[in-house]
Amino acid sequence: MEIKKVMVVGAGQMGSGIAQVCAQSGYDVLLNDMNKDALEKGMNRIEKLLSRSVEKERMTAEDKEATMSRLTPSSDLSDAKDCDIVIEAVIEDMNIKQSVFQQLDKVAPPHAILASNTSSLPITEICAVTNRPEKVIGMHFMNPVPVMKLVEVIRGLQTSDETYKAVEEMSKKLNKTSVEVNDFPGFVANRVLMPMINEAIYTVYEGVASVEDVDTVMKLGMNHPMGPLTLADFIGLDTCLYIMEVLHEGLGDSKYRPCPLLRKYVSAGWLGRKSGRGFYTYE
Ligand code: CAA
Repeated sequence: MEIKKVMVVGAGQMGSGIAQVCAQSGYDVLLNDMNKDALEKGMNRIEKLLSRSVEKERMTAEDKEATMSRLTPSSDLSDAKDCDIVIEAVIEDMNIKQSVFQQLDKVAPPHAILASNTSSLPITEICAVTNRPEKVIGMHFMNPVPVMKLVEVIRGLQTSDETYKAVEEMSKKLNKTSVEVNDFPGFVANRVLMPMINEAIYTVYEGVASVEDVDTVMKLGMNHPMGPLTLADFIGLDTCLYIMEVLHEGLGDSKYRPCPLLRKYVSAGWLGRKSGRGFYTYE
């Protein structure tokens, strides 16, 4: 199956990043969000990042214009009527995602693939609310999407080989490396990453070392581009807590218990970069 036209649902950081890389790779893209402000911000974010690439001579001004011309804002899900794939990147809430998939199942053409960028919710449960479970799949991009090379491709219990192959092929065209993952809590990325971040928070909580020193150990000792606490602030502490809870509940092992300090920060509204304060403070 050839994918030509893409809809991305959700114009936040992840959704706009996904729309950008799709448009840069030659796909016609609808960036959809029911919130017009969020949609405008998402389109502006893409424009800014592309302008920066032109300034840095990674892209010509003509390529930027051509990329922008392939992107169309949309605030109506029924615009998916002539899309070959829809990639959902809305808030991490199963009820909301299931509702979006039910609506998409009604409006998207029968051949269309419905993909979710969920970072940890079960793909099989999302498949189950549609009448095309064999065409539902996980496509988990990493933040920042235009920079990070990985896409986890997650097969729900009923996802077909044909759907998997089409998404694997699309990931290649996006200049990403895909890995095939089965549907288990946290998939691979967050099953490995989040316990490391949670453990870094425990080392601060137990007074083993300061926030800065924990980050320095992992940056200089393990060559990580960001220390785990800087990364937690970058991802969002609410998201980190949410994923730890998915792991804890889904795998039923106490080793995944979220650190009480993480809970406390989230309760205080210290969510990391986006709220101006997390393990560090931001302007
Ligand atoms: N969007 C787009 N491009 C960005 C960007 C963003 N938000 N942030 C940085 N970049 C690009 C810029 O183009 C920049 O190049 P220019 O200076 O030429 O513009 C380039 O990346 C390098 O950026 P910086 O010099 O500002 O900073 P850096 O060298 O520290 O790199 C980083 C920034 C790429 C984010 C790097 O720190 C990094 O790789 N950090 C780890 C990111 C990571 O682990 N992501 C996964 C998070 S987990 C996840 O996403 C899954 C989940 O489910 C929670």
